[in-house]
Amino acid sequence: MALVPIRLISLVILLHVVAAQQTNGSVPVGASISATPDAKPWLSSSGEFAFGFQQVQGSDNFLLSVWYDKIPNKTIIWFPKGGPIVSTRSKVDLVDRRGLVLSDPQGNEVWSSGRNSSDIVYGYMNDTGNFAIVGRNPPNVWESFKYPADTILPTQVIDIGVEINSKLSKTNFSDGRFQLRLISDGNLVLNIRDLFTGTPDNAYNTSGTNNSTNPGVQLIFGVGGYLYVLKRNGERFNLTRDSLPTGDFYHRTTLDSDGVLTQYYHPKNPTDGASWEIAWFVPEDICINNKSKACGLNSVCILENNRPKCECPEGFSWLDPNITNGGCKPNFTLSCDDGDGGDMFDFNELNDFDWPGSDFVSLNPSDEQTCRNSCLKDCLCAVAIYRDNRCWKKQLPLANGFRDPSYNVKALLKFKKVDGPSGTGGNKSPTGEDKSGTGEDESRSLIFMGAFIVTSVVGVFALIGVIYMYFFQTHKKDGTPLLSKTTVETNLPRFTYQELITATNGFKDELGRGAFGTVYKGVIGTKIVAVKKLETVVQDGQKEFQAEVNTIARTHHKNLVQLLGYCDDGEKRLLIYEYLSNRTLAFYLFEDKRPSWKHRSSIAVGVAKGLTYLHEDCSNQIIHCDIKPQNILLDDYYNAKIADFGLAKLLMINQSKTNTGIRGTKGYVAPEWFRNTTVTTKVDVYSFGVLLLEIISCRKSVVFDDDSEDVSVLTDMAWDCYQEGRLNAFVENDLEALDDSEKLTTFIMVGLWCVQENPSLRPTMKKVIQMLEGGIEVTEPPCPFPFSVKF
Ligand SMILES: *[C@@H]1O[C@H](CO)[C@@H](O)[C@H](O)[C@H]1NC(C)=O
Ligand SMILES: *[C@@H]1O[C@H](CO)[C@@H](O)[C@H](O)[C@H]1NC(C)=O
Repeated sequence: MALVPIRLISLVILLHVVAAQQTNGSVPVGASISATPDAKPWLSSSGEFAFGFQQVQGSDNFLLSVWYDKIPNKTIIWFPKGGPIVSTRSKVDLVDRRGLVLSDPQGNEVWSSGRNSSDIVYGYMNDTGNFAIVGRNPPNVWESFKYPADTILPTQVIDIGVEINSKLSKTNFSDGRFQLRLISDGNLVLNIRDLFTGTPDNAYNTSGTNNSTNPGVQLIFGVGGYLYVLKRNGERFNLTRDSLPTGDFYHRTTLDSDGVLTQYYHPKNPTDGASWEIAWFVPEDICINNKSKACGLNSVCILENNRPKCECPEGFSWLDPNITNGGCKPNFTLSCDDGDGGDMFDFNELNDFDWPGSDFVSLNPSDEQTCRNSCLKDCLCAVAIYRDNRCWKKQLPLANGFRDPSYNVKALLKFKKVDGPSGTGGNKSPTGEDKSGTGEDESRSLIFMGAFIVTSVVGVFALIGVIYMYFFQTHKKDGTPLLSKTTVETNLPRFTYQELITATNGFKDELGRGAFGTVYKGVIGTKIVAVKKLETVVQDGQKEFQAEVNTIARTHHKNLVQLLGYCDDGEKRLLIYEYLSNRTLAFYLFEDKRPSWKHRSSIAVGVAKGLTYLHEDCSNQIIHCDIKPQNILLDDYYNAKIADFGLAKLLMINQSKTNTGIRGTKGYVAPEWFRNTTVTTKVDVYSFGVLLLEIISCRKSVVFDDDSEDVSVLTDMAWDCYQEGRLNAFVENDLEALDDSEKLTTFIMVGLWCVQENPSLRPTMKKVIQMLEGGIEVTEPPCPFPFSVKF
């Protein structure tokens, strides 16, 4: 990523490459650099890093900074917090008893490394990219590594409380809208920061290293380029998970100005055209994770090449044109004074866009015309969203704007007719249905163009995926068939144990541990996979194992984790699954900030669909027996995928006649497990009910107290709140959910039907979907536990 304008690069090269005079990296007390285009920077002993002034694009101003000096793109990796810009002939001095002092041409101090009474011996630009000041006592006076800007480098250690702020934009070095911090509970968080006060707002991504007994204590960028959170007991939580290229590379991790934390690498000896490549980044989709407000209020976030592209919708423009992710303002005012009646306004139409969370009224049912009329006449209504005979009226500011083509939604954006659409003079029919739009508006076509590009990119990736999968299933890299011993029935690749040891690097990277075994991350070909080592499979019953693996392999559904292969080497039995990057629903639901209601409800429907498929649509009925949030994985788009299906049966092989042992997890287990009655698909319906109530409320169903007695409180609580009409208490004032009160009520009622103690009262999963999607009406659920037999 070019941080320096192209035109400047050649200039800068000319100016600095010849400057490598002092080579031991050390800087004596009293040395200074003047902010002029030909000033020599202080170089590290290898000449790879430089400390000095870089000229700011298109101006006579300079930024005090540290940069890579040997690559053409002299990427800046450090600058004083806030990026103070100074004019020509400002200077930086290394002052005894003071440290670094930046002053303007008049001699006024602009920035300093901090007052320190210690005698300063010397400073040095280290070969790690760290500028350090050495004193007599104490010796460690100051290091740039302790005061990071937006970038961290190998060997850098970040302690709790240090703030790493993004830049405001690619060319503006002021503190931006995003922040990376290791907070006091040990969690590494990415959060929005308030531009006016610098205070942290919602986290939009967290590492989950806030375990109270073993929290994260430091963020460490290892010498080899691997970034991890060090936990109290010495374990590492790896952030750099995929392997890096071997050889001589620079590595850096930068919180980019768009809020995406990205690790980059660049060859040290650049060949022509070498540039920074991306090793990994989080979050995967900053737009879909709409807590993040990646683009600010009144805007629309479109993911393009994994980066958020922010747009102002028709009729809106940037609040600050310098900050194109800082939100938009309407080009018109909504006024409720007389004379500003409905006939003054009309609508621009946008398909597939929505701003969940800004509704103040929802009309259900409503046809489109009613929706339009209602918003037109309502002087507070700025946008109406129409979908499936429902209408949501929204007020300003619009929050969480994003595009979702699968959502089948139409956004109606109000504009004042005297201004015309986007202030260009409207020529639309009174109903706004005239979409011939004679190219009058650019932002709209931009948005559509964006939509088109996103769709194309997704399409291309899908195609690459299909092609890759074809090769993955049939060929090794060298072209020989990878899988000589595929099972005839399903073509499911079979691997040897040795192959999986190689794939998982000796089972090093543990992803998780469950009732059925431990899951490890691995790489087969170039594809990342999750390898599950089954630990409790009965030893005989090879045929049954094959049969069950075949059953699992035949289940294909977008809400089920796909089995990609297996291993059956004597006692070693392993299953190879697709790898999903966004971890489990448990993690997603119970971290500190709750996901949006819209997301939660679509995840619930996704789980219901996956379960219905297992129960009804696949050739052999599969009862999951262990539905819980830890077994629901989330893909890149936060679609729910059920894991571990089919394993319950696998593990009961040869035990079926005598087995009375309970399968499943406390808190999610249906009461009939305790009663020696037949186990049917209704056990899954029960667990789904508990899960649904968790998804609705973001509360855990089971609370463990100190005696590790588990108390299941959620179903009681749901019933009480439902009966007393206190939905706000159940969802802890989740306004987005409360605004959608009809759906919320429906979901709670469905949850209560699913957790009925009497299995025959529970609906089938198919019926659950119909109820959740509003296809059939939900009747009043009875009390789920009429016998008060709690467990
Ligand atoms: C300077 O770099 C060397 C390796 O090049 C490293 O061992 C040392 O700790 C660094 N010192 C500081 C203060 O960063
Ligand atoms: C950076 O953006 C802020 C906010 O718009 C502005 O005040 C400041 O002048 C900008 N700095 C530069 C160097 O453009």
